[in-house]
Amino acid sequence: MALAPKDQFIDDALEKRRDQHRLRQLRPLDPLDTVTVSDDGRQLINFSGNDYLGLSKHPEVIARSKKYAQEFGTSATASRLISGSYSIHQQLERKLANTFDWEAALVFNSGFQANSTIISTLADRHALILADKLSHNSLLQGSLSSRATFRRFEHNSISDLEQQLERASGEDFSRIIVITESLFSMDGDRSDLQAMAELTQAHNAWLFVDDAHAVGVWGKDGLGLTYVIRGIDMVLGTCGKAYGGFGAYLLCSEKVRTYLINFCPGFIYTTALPPAAIGAIDASLELIPELDETREQLLKNIQLVKEGIHQAGFTTGDSSTQIIPIMVGGEQDTLELAEYLEEHGFLATAIRPPTVPKGGARIRITLSSEHSTAQIENFLNALQSWSNG
Ligand SMILES: Cc1ncc(COP(=O)(O)O)c(C=O)c1O
Repeated sequence: MALAPKDQFIDDALEKRRDQHRLRQLRPLDPLDTVTVSDDGRQLINFSGNDYLGLSKHPEVIARSKKYAQEFGTSATASRLISGSYSIHQQLERKLANTFDWEAALVFNSGFQANSTIISTLADRHALILADKLSHNSLLQGSLSSRATFRRFEHNSISDLEQQLERASGEDFSRIIVITESLFSMDGDRSDLQAMAELTQAHNAWLFVDDAHAVGVWGKDGLGLTYVIRGIDMVLGTCGKAYGGFGAYLLCSEKVRTYLINFCPGFIYTTALPPAAIGAIDASLELIPELDETREQLLKNIQLVKEGIHQAGFTTGDSSTQIIPIMVGGEQDTLELAEYLEEHGFLATAIRPPTVPKGGARIRITLSSEHSTAQIENFLNALQSWSNG
């Protein structure tokens, strides 16, 4: 049989995406301030960013980022284990561990990289991974590449998790790792971490929690939904969201940290985070506990937006946070609504399968403390006018 042209599979895949209205495209959107972007000169209010506290433009965060670049250069120039582990990397890890009351912390280059490499380092092919059905793709990648037995439990269902743990106790796994997010990235709802911690402890299972969207915003002093919950073995925090920076870190025991430094490929075989990124994280980490008023403002914004969305006739699922899905359902309708909002000056991204389950297409709003009441009201008016037809 003659071989098809070698890039035929690419044409086929893209055509299928186009037919399904699922083709994704990049566009240049330059930030003008924390919530406004410029699309080729046209201003749009951004309801799709993760700068929840406006820290990406905070003068102290920018100043420390610049200072570290000036003092230490633009690159760490090597991986951590070769010569890229500067004093600032290690000081930051100590500061993270102290701030969050953990024995140890280890910095990674991104949340995606951390999740995909940590899970596959902890699990071997004799292990069992139990993941919440809506876990982020990076957690999925880590689970699949470990070659462990991979099972999902119903989203946020403690009873399903319990049944699966019971079932696993009769099987012969080397270890069990339970994975969840504290605040789900597409639905904006939260998991019951206390119950999960008790359950995993009772079953001698590890509990890995991705706190990416919660840290900075939720919990005492903005230290995340995992803060002060006993029985969690590892917490992943990302720095590209509320921190307004870039990178990620794992909170864990000294033993786990040493194990990862020795065995985790995504930690070992990559250039360390550049000084400018370390500086931004360092400054945000100091600022976050002081930002209760900023968090209060964000809560007010959440309240206002949710009320308006409901008044416009949409549901918001189980969201109880700054991530709010405006449920539409159909992919075409969702795209049309996103376009309509954009014509009215708002960036509110359509999220479609396969990122969310089939029939779950939505506009996903993410709020910042920096959105003004006027910006929110204008957005809600546009949504209402779409609903009025
Ligand atoms: C829940 C969750 N975990 C991890 C990540 C990845 O983090 P990063 O953007 O630092 O790669 C994201 C965001 O994209 C996320 O939503």
